[in-house]
Amino acid sequence: MKTKTVLITGASSGIGKAFAELFAKLGYRVILASRNEEKLKELARQLQNHYNVSTIAIPVDLAQSNGAVLLHERLNDQDIKIDVLINNAGIGSFGLLHEQDVRSELEMLQLNVQSLSHLMMLFLPDMVKRGSGRILNMGSTTSFYACPLSANYSASKAFVLSLTESVANELQGTGVTVTALCPGATGTEFFRSAKMDGQKVADPKALMNPETVAKIGYKALMSGKTYVVPGFQNWLLTQAPRLFPRRFVTKITRGVLEQKL
Ligand SMILES: NC(=O)c1ccc[n+]([C@@H]2O[C@H](COP(=O)([O-])OP(=O)(O)OC[C@H]3O[C@@H](n4cnc5c(N)ncnc54)[C@H](OP(=O)(O)O)[C@@H]3O)[C@@H](O)[C@H]2O)c1
Repeated sequence: MKTKTVLITGASSGIGKAFAELFAKLGYRVILASRNEEKLKELARQLQNHYNVSTIAIPVDLAQSNGAVLLHERLNDQDIKIDVLINNAGIGSFGLLHEQDVRSELEMLQLNVQSLSHLMMLFLPDMVKRGSGRILNMGSTTSFYACPLSANYSASKAFVLSLTESVANELQGTGVTVTALCPGATGTEFFRSAKMDGQKVADPKALMNPETVAKIGYKALMSGKTYVVPGFQNWLLTQAPRLFPRRFVTKITRGVLEQKL
């Protein structure tokens, strides 16, 4: 049987790294993409040694507007076809929007929104032509409600869920599926890089582990689900806007984010 190929963005740490391990264990050829070349190469070596699979490390900055094209071109040049795209790379930010560094916020939107959508648009035509392919887009529980103090971030994740639901519908009957994985707080580098590690929401005791999140995402992806929220408590949270007035939910999410450890 032909070896399948998975492309994972944001593979150097956290949930992306857990996906890389999972796919390597299953015998996939694994393509790892993010900025940190050294970390990617080290992970590529480890996966090759442990699972005897072929790996490729591609350093790329997806917060730049040409990042998605460069990554796609690099794979095209080597005639590599992607069977599974894990559109995972993303960052967060914390604080009042009017006090944020504008450039950093725009880079976050480029990464979480534009590059994610751009990669889908670059890889989908070939998948549809071949009549097979799977895409996983990284959403969040914040895809379902507004989050003051993380305004652009939560809006970026709402975009991911909406995009995924629309495209999943468009793809019916093509053999290609797209799934949004919407985790709650997970134990990765995310909170440290978003400068949220002093907040209660980042309490290590309450975090899911990235391997569990990746496993749940993988199952949903392979069964062609449109979205999945890992964990019952997280799922309950995502139902809040259906049960309570939106303004009330927004007030509560702000209260939760403001709590310090
Ligand atoms: N952790 C959570 O609580 C949580 C909850 C819901 C959703 N998520 C989502 O899960 C995804 C993965 O995050 P994580 O929790 O695993 O955090 P993480 O450990 O910080 O991983 C983020 C990954 O994205 C990569 N990345 C960051 N900036 C990049 C850029 N400009 N270009 C290319 N790659 C870049 C990082 O690698 P380099 O530094 O090497 O570039 C890293 O591999 C994100 O989309 C995040 O929004 C996380």
